[in-house]
Amino acid sequence: MNVLVCGGAGYIGAHMAKILFEKGFKVTVFDNLSTGHRDAVKWGDFVQGDLLDQTCLTELFLSNKFTAVMHFSAKSLVGESIANPDIYYMNNVVGTLNLLDAMRKQGINKFVFSSSAAVYGNPVTPLPAKPLPAKPLPVKPLIDESQSLKPINPYGKTKLIVENMLHDYAQAYGLCSVSLRYFNAAGADPDGLIGESHNPETHLIPNILKSVLRSSDRLKVFGNNYETPDGTCIRDYIHVNDLCLAHLKALEFMKTNAGSHFFNLGNQKGFSILEIIRASENVVGKKIPFEYSAPRSGDPPTLVADSSKAKEKLNWEPKHTDLEDIIQTAWNWHLKIG
Ligand code: UFG
Repeated sequence: MNVLVCGGAGYIGAHMAKILFEKGFKVTVFDNLSTGHRDAVKWGDFVQGDLLDQTCLTELFLSNKFTAVMHFSAKSLVGESIANPDIYYMNNVVGTLNLLDAMRKQGINKFVFSSSAAVYGNPVTPLPAKPLPAKPLPVKPLIDESQSLKPINPYGKTKLIVENMLHDYAQAYGLCSVSLRYFNAAGADPDGLIGESHNPETHLIPNILKSVLRSSDRLKVFGNNYETPDGTCIRDYIHVNDLCLAHLKALEFMKTNAGSHFFNLGNQKGFSILEIIRASENVVGKKIPFEYSAPRSGDPPTLVADSSKAKEKLNWEPKHTDLEDIIQTAWNWHLKIG
């Protein structure tokens, strides 16, 4: 099976290329290297190109016989998407449209899409129908796929537009697709050959670990007045290799399931920023200083997945369920890159 990995020089895409290669798939990475890294492409063939360049895409599809496409290429910073929505609609929506049309011309009809928890926006807690029970309710219910789709930033909106496109392409052209709604990707491949490296880095765990390595990169906690037990945002951190595993399961699933499908991918456990800092202190073996700063715009207070649909239908089970184990894999990578 010959798989095209768009965005395979990025954090999650590079992990995917490695796993596919190790499982015996033929792999081609297509990436414009705008945020990805050439040295993260170590498995399979590499083609440098841009999804906005239709000539390049046509050539790519004419010179290869792909059986499926995995699409990780996207701009993915919430704050940047609020400041520059044009870049987001162009890259994430127009770029994907170009990719789908290039696939269609060659009759390739299997597509795995990197969607996001950002499609849910700020999920609301439904009011209990009955009087409140004596025991306190959990902080927020887990988010399953029946939650309404109301993205609160352009990044999330672009992901939802693509999911809708996939639905329409299934109806009209028979495209078979799986959209995987990632919660917070974290960690690094235990082999230590690849990991998370963004410039600038905006994600919590890498920023915590960088602050340990360089005291000048002091950690900032964005907001401590959210409606959560300790006032900081709660997220569901899922190991990058577990996300990749779900993509393999999606390839299997599409062998027997036509149409467009979507699944949440998370560990079903929420951790506040302060809990992540504490767990990181246990991993690195020292206290991690931080300061509070203003909340970041577009950040929902709580996002925790109910992933039972993926477990049931894709037969997916995350392997890294221990938070400190996930952080440890990231720490090993950060120690290596310095
Ligand atoms: N945070 C800090 N300090 C930092 C970095 C992050 O306090 O230095 C906070 C954020 O404000 C947020 C939490 O830590 O409350 C997690 O932030 P990340 O940037 O690590 O992750 P996000 O939850 O913002 O982003 C993730 C995905 C996005 C997706 C988004 C949905 O990475 O792709 O969830 O809201 F869009």
